[in-house]
Amino acid sequence: MNRWAGKVAIVTGANSGIGAAISEALVNHGVKVIGLDIRLDRLQEMIQKLGKDKLFTIECNLRKEEEILKAFKVIEEQFGGADILVNDAGVVSIKTVIDSDTEEYRKIIDTNLIAPAICSREAVQSLIKRKTCGHIININSVSGTYGESVITPVCMYSASKYGLRALGTELRHEIVLSNLDIKITNISPGPVDTGMVPIFFEGVDEEQLRQTVKFLQPKDIAEAAIYALGTPESVEIPEITIIPHKTAFCTVLR
Ligand SMILES: NC(=O)c1ccc[n+]([C@@H]2O[C@H](COP(=O)([O-])OP(=O)(O)OC[C@H]3O[C@@H](n4cnc5c(N)ncnc54)[C@H](OP(=O)(O)O)[C@@H]3O)[C@@H](O)[C@H]2O)c1
Repeated sequence: MNRWAGKVAIVTGANSGIGAAISEALVNHGVKVIGLDIRLDRLQEMIQKLGKDKLFTIECNLRKEEEILKAFKVIEEQFGGADILVNDAGVVSIKTVIDSDTEEYRKIIDTNLIAPAICSREAVQSLIKRKTCGHIININSVSGTYGESVITPVCMYSASKYGLRALGTELRHEIVLSNLDIKITNISPGPVDTGMVPIFFEGVDEEQLRQTVKFLQPKDIAEAAIYALGTPESVEIPEITIIPHKTAFCTVLR
């Protein structure tokens, strides 16, 4: 990880859960982190803990392209551009596709797929302009690889995560063809105990659910991100799938 010390990372969805854990881990490895999120309350607390010269925040609704572009412009002007991009922010739904309206589809696809595409494009363009190396990490899900293992309705969530996986593959091809020095890593966790989980508790006994489903912790995913970033320059990790130990691959959350 030494080569990233002093470099700049953008982490979307840094205000909570996996994004917060990755932000903290990056700061602990000497990386300057700019957290993009729709709410910044917990990030402000993290700044108190980690230091205001290490963690920075930009309020950004990732469903609004103009807000993303504005954030990247500020990062270019104030920090000289980012070297690492972690596309973490995401939303889930427990509604069925059949019963959801189109706006629900758009909310999921815009946040989980279109925003990472816009952020990746802006990050890669900036890296090209600065002739430097970079790393993009996409926080995917087992739903984006093994959709069959998630039986609970998740509306367009799996579709968005399959798309995110394909986006990573497409970007890697383009990067190879353009001879750029940018790595792409897709991290696919099973259930992680974060703010996203309570949605699965709606209408069910939380205690009972917790007895049947094992959860990873956000720091488990942060450690995987640090591992991918810390590989030698000649090594790229395209995919990391993480599931809780002693659990069946099939995840029935409700
Ligand atoms: N938890 C799991 O079981 C699990 C498993 C596999 C993959 N993942 C993936 O991990 C990633 C992080 O999720 P998490 O579990 O850490 O959940 P989380 O705690 O809910 O974190 C998601 C973050 O993204 C932010 N966000 C959502 N929509 C946004 C928008 N339009 N603009 C800016 N920020 C936005 C959220 O802000 P608000 O809270 O203010 O909305 C929140 O801070 C997601 O991509 C998720 O799909 C999670």
